[in-house]
Amino acid sequence: MCGIVGYVGKRQAAKILLDGLRKLEYRGYDSAGIAVRNGAENAQVVKTSGRLKALIEKTENGKNIRGTCGIGHTRWATHGVPSVANAHPHVSGNCAGTGNGPVESSVVGVHNGIIENYAELKAKLMSKGYSFYSETDTEVLVKLVDYYYNKYRIGPIDAINRTMVRARGSYALALMFTDYPNQIYAARKDSPLIIGKGEEESFLASDVPAILNHTRNVYYIQNHQSARIEEDRITFFDLNGDEVFLPETVIEWDAKAAEKDGFAHYMLKEIHEQSTAVRNTFNSLVRESAIHLEDFGLDQSILNGISHIDIVACGSAWHVGVTSQYVIESLTDIPVRVELASEFRYRNMPITSGTLVIVISQSGETADTLAALRKAKQAGIPVLAVVNVVGSSIAREADYVLYTLAGPEISVATTKAYSAQLIAMDLFAIQLSYSKGFITREKYSYYIEEASSLPEKIERILLDKERLQWFSSRISGQANMFFIGRGLDYSVCLEGSLKMKEISYIHSEAYAAGELKHGTISLIEDGTVVVGIMTESSVMDKTFSNMIECKARGAYLISLTSADHPVPDEGEIDFQITVPATDELFLPSLAVIPLQLLSYYTSVNRGLDVDKPRNLAKSVTVE
Ligand code: G6P
Repeated sequence: MCGIVGYVGKRQAAKILLDGLRKLEYRGYDSAGIAVRNGAENAQVVKTSGRLKALIEKTENGKNIRGTCGIGHTRWATHGVPSVANAHPHVSGNCAGTGNGPVESSVVGVHNGIIENYAELKAKLMSKGYSFYSETDTEVLVKLVDYYYNKYRIGPIDAINRTMVRARGSYALALMFTDYPNQIYAARKDSPLIIGKGEEESFLASDVPAILNHTRNVYYIQNHQSARIEEDRITFFDLNGDEVFLPETVIEWDAKAAEKDGFAHYMLKEIHEQSTAVRNTFNSLVRESAIHLEDFGLDQSILNGISHIDIVACGSAWHVGVTSQYVIESLTDIPVRVELASEFRYRNMPITSGTLVIVISQSGETADTLAALRKAKQAGIPVLAVVNVVGSSIAREADYVLYTLAGPEISVATTKAYSAQLIAMDLFAIQLSYSKGFITREKYSYYIEEASSLPEKIERILLDKERLQWFSSRISGQANMFFIGRGLDYSVCLEGSLKMKEISYIHSEAYAAGELKHGTISLIEDGTVVVGIMTESSVMDKTFSNMIECKARGAYLISLTSADHPVPDEGEIDFQITVPATDELFLPSLAVIPLQLLSYYTSVNRGLDVDKPRNLAKSVTVE
């Protein structure tokens, strides 16, 4: 939700800021802005509504703004509609700035997060003579810093610290003070923020890809810490204003990995990167034919102590949780509960000792998932995080971390991170089962062998993509779609349906096949597309019958099965999709691939912005 960047150094800042924002557009894309300072001159603030493209055009790709110090923002609206006035940067003065010259203001800032008590703070500031030009909580935050800064004649860090004490909510904040040229100030609580150090230049950003072309050396600023960022020095402070020292981390991601690399969209590129993501994640956990969870702290005694598991996540990561519930419960006698993080965090429910809470998150920053993790920890329950982004909040706060090695994922609709999460959870389940004596050594080796075959099978499915591309034109005009399946197949339906609706805007629902008859079947009419996922042989006939019930009401049927279990009566099916055979527990990893491709091509056929679907953001750091 919103992306922020900052640069101070010897180069012209505007172009660097715009390039950084381009990499962060996945976080929000309804308006954008930059503020750049040329030495001691006031900041020039340029803002546009709509996609970043408008800002790039307005600034001639940064050429018409001079200055070597600046901050930038791409917005996903929370407080106030997407508009130029509400776009960031915000200023402490009375003019938002549109790009027609420098703006007089002692403080200029960008913000990612939500200030919960902004109304109360705004009223206080109004009583002190401040007026407001926008509906945003960020303008309130910037003016509060300005208020303390001027009232007490204190330096930027003290003013920021006073503001942090008063502001409730979440923020990653970057500020420039007119009195302090060539310096950027930053502060953070519960929203992601990294600070990068290059040769005679420094950067800040919401996420690694924004600065990866310039530096790999970063600092993860902690909650309630602030920083002074200069070209040759970065200084961190705690809430008392005392200097603190943070370790430098070297990012190992390849800068190329965050580029489109010849693909029309990030999503298509990331779909193709799935075999690598799965293989890398597999190889990080398996060596010499054994799964080594003890490398991550999950040794035999910890695994043996687990009597319940709660899996907590949001969106597609929650779908991984649903799949994992079936897998873990098939391989062990451990009861697994799967909860949406937004529910888990506010629900009163018993969490017994012996429970392991597993949070799954690509970004490691999802606000609800992070809150769920904290709730579990507060209750004294150990937390395992399955996370993609190294050093993210969830990774830092969890007791144990299994990293998925998917690399940077840019497209809002997740694909490769989802697949990497699935394999990580499968391997966790296999090891748990073996450690607790539920499966023999032979079965253990068999499962590892089957899991190791998945990357090559994913590659084989991708070879057939033209067929799905061709077929997608058949469904592109649909108004409604249904995905039905049972057991593991139902968990794939959840993901297939979400992929379809989020990027093609076709209304789509996932249903447990047996449940359709309890209401939803009334929506089936002539030509409605029903996708039946039937990779679980034990329930295939049941789901097939449910598909036939739909056909009797006019549905157009698509089947998805594995090569060794074809549909009972092919004549009834209008379009068949087949994936290579593997152990049924791992078939979700294969079944999801054609569904991703189908959604992708449908979105392309409909002329939509595949990588940036409307109203969405990749990293949801607000409630
Ligand atoms: C957003 C993304 C989804 C993702 C979900 C959870 O809604 O668009 O793709 O599954 O957040 O994100 P996380 O980073 O916690 O996996």
